[in-house]
Amino acid sequence: MLSPKSVLITGCNRGIGLEFVKQFLNLNSPPKYLFACCRNPDAAQNLNEIAQKNASVKVLQLDVTNQGTIDRAEEVVKSVVKDDGLNLLINNSGIVDRSNIEETTRDKMRECYEVNAIGPLMMAQTFLPLLRQAASQYPDKPMSCSKSAIINLSTGVASISENSSGGRYPYRSSKAALNMITSNLSIDLKSDGILCTAIHPGWVKTDMGGPNALISSEESLKGMMAVLEKLEGEEGSGKFYHGVRGDLIGW
Ligand SMILES: NC(=O)c1ccc[n+]([C@@H]2O[C@H](COP(=O)([O-])OP(=O)(O)OC[C@H]3O[C@@H](n4cnc5c(N)ncnc54)[C@H](OP(=O)(O)O)[C@@H]3O)[C@@H](O)[C@H]2O)c1
Repeated sequence: MLSPKSVLITGCNRGIGLEFVKQFLNLNSPPKYLFACCRNPDAAQNLNEIAQKNASVKVLQLDVTNQGTIDRAEEVVKSVVKDDGLNLLINNSGIVDRSNIEETTRDKMRECYEVNAIGPLMMAQTFLPLLRQAASQYPDKPMSCSKSAIINLSTGVASISENSSGGRYPYRSSKAALNMITSNLSIDLKSDGILCTAIHPGWVKTDMGGPNALISSEESLKGMMAVLEKLEGEEGSGKFYHGVRGDLIGW
């Protein structure tokens, strides 16, 4: 059963992040603390409405490109979860830039790397003591999303082995970097009992996915929550999952 006591998600004001918040609240055993991060809480109307009705939801200001905001969020989380630590970090926020070889610029590459790869890595680094603390509460249990885990939102188009159409340099390559970060973290944090896995949410009708996408956020989350629930032990870590089909994508 998926039952983390505490969850932190980035990019919760809209799209897949907002749906993650709703689906965690719908669990049979919802988190005691759900830290829902966004860049601009004052403008996060849908998220604020959810937080008003659910005391477990704490809205935190966090921009993954701004280390000061990450550090401040970590201080708040630490003061709330105390010795229990943080069970689940979901690096959901992301940006897309589909520039082809002629359109790609240094700045476009840098921006995508900052948000899609460097941001999630610094989130993992900053929250690592709290994730270790959570893992240490259950030394005899296998790794899982209820014990201690980092889940990174990747994309099918980051797969090098399945790339057949080219283009989209900033997005593809920054998410491929995120995949390597995920694989690396799974190796480095195995001895701590922290699971690290990448997941592709499908082609989802959000601002990023656009209106022609194949599935709704609800459908995407139904699949991804089922995947998160089944991840267990070393077999569930260091993988790249298709969140809707539930099978693996080749790196
Ligand atoms: N939709 C799809 O079809 C699809 C497919 C494959 C993978 N994904 C991945 O799934 C994740 C969520 O996608 P989505 O479709 O929900 O995208 P979205 O609708 O465009 O939402 C993106 C979210 O990321 C936040 N964000 C952007 N830059 C940020 C930063 N510097 N710091 C913190 N948050 C930031 C946005 O906040 P603001 O509102 O402040 O900009 C927003 O909350 C992304 O990582 C994306 O790459 C999506």
